[in-house]
Amino acid sequence: MKILESAKEMRRWSRDQRRHGRTIGFVPTMGALHEGHASLIRESVAKNDVTVLSIFVNPAQFAPHEDFDTYPRTFETDRAMAAALGAVAIYAPRSDSVYPEGYATYVHVERLSDGLCGGSRPVFFRGISTVVAKLFNVVEPDRAYFGQKDAQQCAIIKRMVRDLEFDIDIIEMPIIREADGLAMSSRNRYLSEGDRQRALNLSRALQHARELLDAGERDAAKVIDAVRSAMQDVPIDYIALVDADDIAPVEKIDRPILIAVAANIGPARLIDNIKYTPVECKAKTVHTTAMQGIQS
Ligand code: PAJ
Repeated sequence: MKILESAKEMRRWSRDQRRHGRTIGFVPTMGALHEGHASLIRESVAKNDVTVLSIFVNPAQFAPHEDFDTYPRTFETDRAMAAALGAVAIYAPRSDSVYPEGYATYVHVERLSDGLCGGSRPVFFRGISTVVAKLFNVVEPDRAYFGQKDAQQCAIIKRMVRDLEFDIDIIEMPIIREADGLAMSSRNRYLSEGDRQRALNLSRALQHARELLDAGERDAAKVIDAVRSAMQDVPIDYIALVDADDIAPVEKIDRPILIAVAANIGPARLIDNIKYTPVECKAKTVHTTAMQGIQS
């Protein structure tokens, strides 16, 4: 396993891979790896000649009162896990080389960064889009893998890649859950047994929303109300029902949507979500494709 600590070394390694004709898959992380991260690494290893992951707890995405200092740092176990999964390199830059004295340049994806997690964490997405743009610039991958667990982050990165014309395919992978439904997260280790039980309300409430949607409910306000009643026992930060691509609120569910929730449980802020495409939309897509087939 190659450990690369500077942008210069990382770029040299990547360019060397490319010179040998190898495709590069990239998995950006903040470490404390779990099965959610593992699913991204596995997919990257399967679809690319070489896989590199980054481990960098990015100070720019934490507000001063948040858990930057206590965020779990488990480099040795992460390295072993990444190696066992088939990754061949880790980019682990030092914070003062990513943000040297006098650092002044930030990437801000407008509108998509404002609501949901952006509402209660104002610097969060600016920090994420900035660091991911920097990582892309240094790693120069062919494909980069992100989890639907952070669905707003995925939408923002996809928009940034489109708007700034990065030549990188963004692959969004499904949420990996514990057997009882809790979405895996590096922050779950902060939860006591009681917190953990209450945390299950998030995935249960979303499951309930999916049942309503499957039964034909298309009024966003009604679905949000149902999710809110199913989450009565937890301190909710937000419940949002938005367009899956541009993260703008919708009233009528007539396109692919994202239902996202966040709650403060014990010392942890947990998020979860589901995506849903109404059958009517799927039918429309199939119909259009079929028509195109006939016309061409
Ligand atoms: P981190 O929280 O370490 O997550 C790294 C990647 O793993 C993200 O794409 C995230 O969505 C994915 N992931 C986490 N839990 C998952 C789960 N249960 N199922 C599927 N995928 C999961 O997200 C970040 O780091 C940072 O914001 C980063 C993009 C690295 C920028 O600093």
